[in-house]
Amino acid sequence: MDENKQSAELQNSEVPHKRRKRYSGTHPKKFSEKYKELNPEKYKEDVAHIIARGATPAGMHISIMVQEILDFLNIQPGQIGLDATLGYGGHTKAMLEKLEGKGHIYGLDVDPIESEKTKKRLAEAGFGEDILTVRLQNFKDIDKVSEETGHKFNFILADLGVSSMQIDNPERGFSYKVDGPLDLRLNPQKGVSGADRLKQLTKAEIEGMLIENADEPYADKIATAICRWRGQKRPIETTTDLRKCITEALSFLPKNEQKEAIKKSCQRTFQAIRIDINSEFEVLYEFLEKLPSVLAPGGRVAVLTFHSGEDRLVKKAFKEYHRQGVFSDVARDVIRPTQEECFRNSRAKSTKMRWAVRSLRSSE
Ligand SMILES: C[S@@+](CC[C@H](N)C(=O)[O-])C[C@H]1O[C@@H](n2cnc3c(N)ncnc32)[C@H](O)[C@@H]1O
Repeated sequence: MDENKQSAELQNSEVPHKRRKRYSGTHPKKFSEKYKELNPEKYKEDVAHIIARGATPAGMHISIMVQEILDFLNIQPGQIGLDATLGYGGHTKAMLEKLEGKGHIYGLDVDPIESEKTKKRLAEAGFGEDILTVRLQNFKDIDKVSEETGHKFNFILADLGVSSMQIDNPERGFSYKVDGPLDLRLNPQKGVSGADRLKQLTKAEIEGMLIENADEPYADKIATAICRWRGQKRPIETTTDLRKCITEALSFLPKNEQKEAIKKSCQRTFQAIRIDINSEFEVLYEFLEKLPSVLAPGGRVAVLTFHSGEDRLVKKAFKEYHRQGVFSDVARDVIRPTQEECFRNSRAKSTKMRWAVRSLRSSE
């Protein structure tokens, strides 16, 4: 053996080879590692950059149509208001500012995780219990809120659906884009998860749910695929399982159409299951039914919806109350966010706003 080779071998046996640490990039890959965005109050500059790029920082929600809502609600100091869907509290905060320290807002949400954080955040921003009461309560129970607080409301806002914090957190299972348990419950401590619901329903029920809740054009194919997976003992437990199942269901489409079709069907299927397990149509119906009895004479209500099923219910109820004279005025047409807002916040694109005014006739 020549000398050089011998010394190289010797060196190799003496110094164990150490693998270079893999470069992991500068951006956090997991939601839980997004420490800056998940703590937006501490990293204001980073958050401002992300918003300027048209994105929503993790752990935050950008409120939609704030100015349009404030313009319509015309909040006066001393009034009593209800935010039926507290979320990140962006709308609540804007409405609280209009009270100028006089009056009160009751903020409802069914999500125990996010509403607790929002309560703390708003208290730190100077809106404590003297002016804001956060209640873990479903807006279908607005009659109870009114009874228990002893108030009829001068203004009510309902910004339906889910918040960005809920969508972005993989643990909640709201998005097909990130892997996580297929949960989809607004209150993960109550009710049946999306995964369990898919185990309970028949093929016809799944198909009906996809059509009624999301107008899914491939409802039959997707329902068949879900049942085939069940038959093959391949449980659909995660968001990835469901995405794969939908991908399989749409494999009959021409290759160049598949990507876009799968994306849209994933969005609609997740929405349909979410609506089902959280009884979103039923609770909205109850809310609309009770609305006139909790609004003060002349009280104002604004509702933001995110899909046609919701908007139809709101439109129909407002029109009927107007016909009966219970509402003195209602939005003739739906109001949409400006193009500029949709550019800044892509989640605003599907938003529709409707408003109504309770007649001055005293409520029963
Ligand atoms: C679109 S977000 C509201 C965002 C909020 N307006 C803001 O500016 O941050 C909708 C919120 O309503 C809550 N929610 C949905 N259905 C509800 C219900 N039936 N009762 C009470 N809260 C509900 C969700 O948990 C979510 O936090």
